[in-house]
Amino acid sequence: MDTTFLWVEEYRPKNIDSCILPQSLKKTFLEFIREGHIPNLILSGGPGIGKTTVAKAMLGEIGCTHMMINGSEESGIDVLRTKIKNFASTVSLDGGRKYIILDEADYLNPQSTQPALRGFMEEFHRNCGYILTCNYKNKLIEPLHSRCSVVDFIIPNLEKPKLADDFMKRVIAILNEQGISYDKRVIVEIIYKHFPDWRRVLNELQRYSASGTIDAGILVNIAEVNIRELMQSMKNKEFTNVRKWVVNNLDNDSVRILRYVYDNLYNYVDGSSIPHIVVILGEYQYKAAFVADQEINMLACLTEIMARAKFK
Ligand SMILES: Nc1ncnc2c1ncn2[C@@H]1O[C@H](COP(=O)(O)OP(=O)(O)O)[C@@H](O)[C@H]1O
Ligand SMILES: [Mg+2]
Repeated sequence: MDTTFLWVEEYRPKNIDSCILPQSLKKTFLEFIREGHIPNLILSGGPGIGKTTVAKAMLGEIGCTHMMINGSEESGIDVLRTKIKNFASTVSLDGGRKYIILDEADYLNPQSTQPALRGFMEEFHRNCGYILTCNYKNKLIEPLHSRCSVVDFIIPNLEKPKLADDFMKRVIAILNEQGISYDKRVIVEIIYKHFPDWRRVLNELQRYSASGTIDAGILVNIAEVNIRELMQSMKNKEFTNVRKWVVNNLDNDSVRILRYVYDNLYNYVDGSSIPHIVVILGEYQYKAAFVADQEINMLACLTEIMARAKFK
């Protein structure tokens, strides 16, 4: 298998029609394309559901000059100002409207960068439009909301089976093209597990397909890969990443996760701090039977471990 490219990029839909989306969303986006005009937008929704893909596809289909800025990587005001100014202050070659995709805009500082962004939006509104994507729209300040239409990527329950089925077909086409054999039931399970995080589905499948075939082993494999990620983040004291990990993995039940951490302690943690961590795990496992919100309990547990453990 060619490992030099990522499936998520290689198979990113180039137009709205090939995106797997609820009908009402598709209709909205196709309407923008038909009009040849996109209002300032906030695309909000969970990871891997197609926000960035939709932004790129619409602009590609209309044929607009655009620039992409990633809010989680380039979040300083100065970088943002320079980039936006250079791009937005000049007219595009064909004289048409230009667009800036501000990806992961909820990472921009709400005290400094977001208010500045509001200023840029005003300043260049004549020839430049904005598409902001975010996981949490309530992290964007009100003045940004009031300058944009908000589109929520929510999948109505009634449409879920159809979309899962569509994605299944898509995945199978990819696996066939890549010459990878598969057990259909396993694919169903992966899709069911991560729905509707399509990025996650594709990444897990690509990672595992290095072995040439997708079988039940992938379900174990996922857990292994994930625990490594988690331990790495805890070692580096990256609270935000630990939090993301919890959100992404809580579909496994929490007792199983705690057991998994326990089983893997010797690989990642210095022997001297293991007894202490076992006590922490025991306490939180007990609490897991009573707490109202498993996410908070799990994150509290991992935070405590992160603070106490001596990592290797
Ligand atoms: N609605 C979708 N239809 C088809 N593929 C999708 C869809 N959403 C995501 N994907 C796949 O997952 C990848 C990541 O999607 P992306 O749009 O970057 O997600 P995000 O919502 O986090 O911005 C895409 O490149 C594509 O391969
Ligand atoms: Mg994105």
